[in-house]
Amino acid sequence: MSRPIRMALTKGRLEKDTVGLLEKLGFDCTAVREKGRKLILPVPDANLEVVLAKANDVITYVEHGVCDMGVVGKDTIMEMNGKFYELVDLGFGKCKFALATKKDYDFYGGYGIKTIATKYPNVSRHFFEKKGMDTEIIKIEGSVELAPLLELADGIVDIVETGTTLKENGLEVIEDVAPISARLIANTVSLKMRQAEIEGLIKLIEENL
Ligand code: PRP
Repeated sequence: MSRPIRMALTKGRLEKDTVGLLEKLGFDCTAVREKGRKLILPVPDANLEVVLAKANDVITYVEHGVCDMGVVGKDTIMEMNGKFYELVDLGFGKCKFALATKKDYDFYGGYGIKTIATKYPNVSRHFFEKKGMDTEIIKIEGSVELAPLLELADGIVDIVETGTTLKENGLEVIEDVAPISARLIANTVSLKMRQAEIEGLIKLIEENL
């Protein structure tokens, strides 16, 4: 048998949902479920090898072809761009990018340049460029909700899932930016070299979504 298809999974919730999906397809994922601190795990009956990585690294490994496929959120894809194929919307990991401000804040009022805090500067820049609106964008690493509360920013562009974080911090969505869900991606060369196997897997996945 040829070497296993290597699939990079975003550690955490997307990893768990993907393992659930692979099990639904009938593959034994015991090694992944009992992984301990191991980062590369076999799914033998699928001739798959699962690699556990952070979201940005999933894209890096797939782009460089050291992983043939990957499962990563559309949020990371939009922020990082990159050269790979986006093949399937897996339907899980659903949330959205939204523009949020302090409650009742008049974001579009006044003439000054607005400041946006975000973990996703490229997504934010693109969103405001499309509107033809000049903004100053400040990169924040986590808990972006703090920035308007500390008066660093007029608004944030961030991921909203249940809306609880915004609500509990006195913030509200004023505009949706883009829907997000998990996507199956593939390296461009792998898709040509292992076309039958990858397409077979995709077909099976699509039938079971
Ligand atoms: C994300 C996001 C929000 C929160 C939204 O952060 O940045 O803070 O989840 O979820 P909610 O709408 O269900 O409240 P995450 O938990 O990934 O942590 P991070 O800030 O460290 O990225």
